[in-house]
Amino acid sequence: MFYNPVMAADRDLAIAFVRAWRPGPDRELTGWEVTAATGIRGLRLLTESERFASFVFTEPNDDAFAALAPNARRHPGAVAIHDDGRHPPTGAPFDYVDIDPYGSPAPFVPAALAALRTGGVIGVTATDMLVLAGAQPAVAKRRYGAVPIRGRLGQESGLRILLMFLARAARSQGRSVRPLLSYVREHYVRTYVELVDAGSGDDPVGTIDPTTWDGPPVGARGPYGPLWLGSLFDASIVARLTTPGSAAQTREVDALIARLRGEAGIDGAFYYEPNSLAASLRLAAPPSLAALLGALAAEGYRAARTHVRPEGVRSDAPRSAVERIARGLAANDQSQNARVRA
Ligand SMILES: C[S@@+](CC[C@H](N)C(=O)[O-])C[C@H]1O[C@@H](n2cnc3c(N)ncnc32)[C@H](O)[C@@H]1O
Repeated sequence: MFYNPVMAADRDLAIAFVRAWRPGPDRELTGWEVTAATGIRGLRLLTESERFASFVFTEPNDDAFAALAPNARRHPGAVAIHDDGRHPPTGAPFDYVDIDPYGSPAPFVPAALAALRTGGVIGVTATDMLVLAGAQPAVAKRRYGAVPIRGRLGQESGLRILLMFLARAARSQGRSVRPLLSYVREHYVRTYVELVDAGSGDDPVGTIDPTTWDGPPVGARGPYGPLWLGSLFDASIVARLTTPGSAAQTREVDALIARLRGEAGIDGAFYYEPNSLAASLRLAAPPSLAALLGALAAEGYRAARTHVRPEGVRSDAPRSAVERIARGLAANDQSQNARVRA
């Protein structure tokens, strides 16, 4: 009950992330798994990433702790604590902290950030997708202080709400965050952010007013957010990600890493989909994905398929350019079809 096989690929990716992360001078790291269950996530990081000297695990549930304690005893450096993860355990500050709860990570974030060294990384999962993706806006407002975007962009909006929430929590402690790797998968969003000194500038957090927003159409109501509108990735870390030899789900992790690599250097928030473009522009048929990517690149824009949706294209092109290109491709298709019929 406390071991979820669906998350095996996610734990594989955690190992890939830690191996790709270069936290500075070579030294062994310390970690804390806040919501440990059996401890499988942190124990895999401890034993398979070869980067950690020690890992602390907190778990208040009696049954889960009964599984965690013997697991930890078998691994030198692992310390299991039968306690609530909303208070930092002995050993803080840590280099790496992981929150992987049932539902929202919000209650765990303040203590996790307080227990993290500046320059350290926090990995956070949120599985309350109904809330983050807009199906329960009142709960989103209460829990995260944000108005989510509903519909096709809802999952990425959820990821950006989580990042905004982390950025605000870090600010309240006089620090700031820098996303290194963030993604949407199945029923959850997950991000790894570095905790940095608060600079003098503001975080890239803002609301989206649909009447002035120049990115992919977000819906007519709004304003939406506040959302993290900056990058989701550190492209150099994403370029170094490789599926660990010990991975439980090699093909799935390979595929996700490949998609993330393609889009990691592109800063555009959200993505365009051929079908949605065709519907909003009233085109006879959607442009093909390859044609859209090719035409954007030919005009000097960066564009790649996003991991978030199979047909999604992330680009730094303004909406006006994407729409002009989509219209041009549709007109081209129509005249070609006419020539074939003639
Ligand atoms: C989704 S499971 C963790 C799964 C684990 N990270 C893995 O990869 O298998 C969430 C765990 O958080 C625990 N939990 C609930 N409330 C908690 C709290 N206040 N402090 C720490 N852990 C808590 C639950 O008992 C449960 O075992």
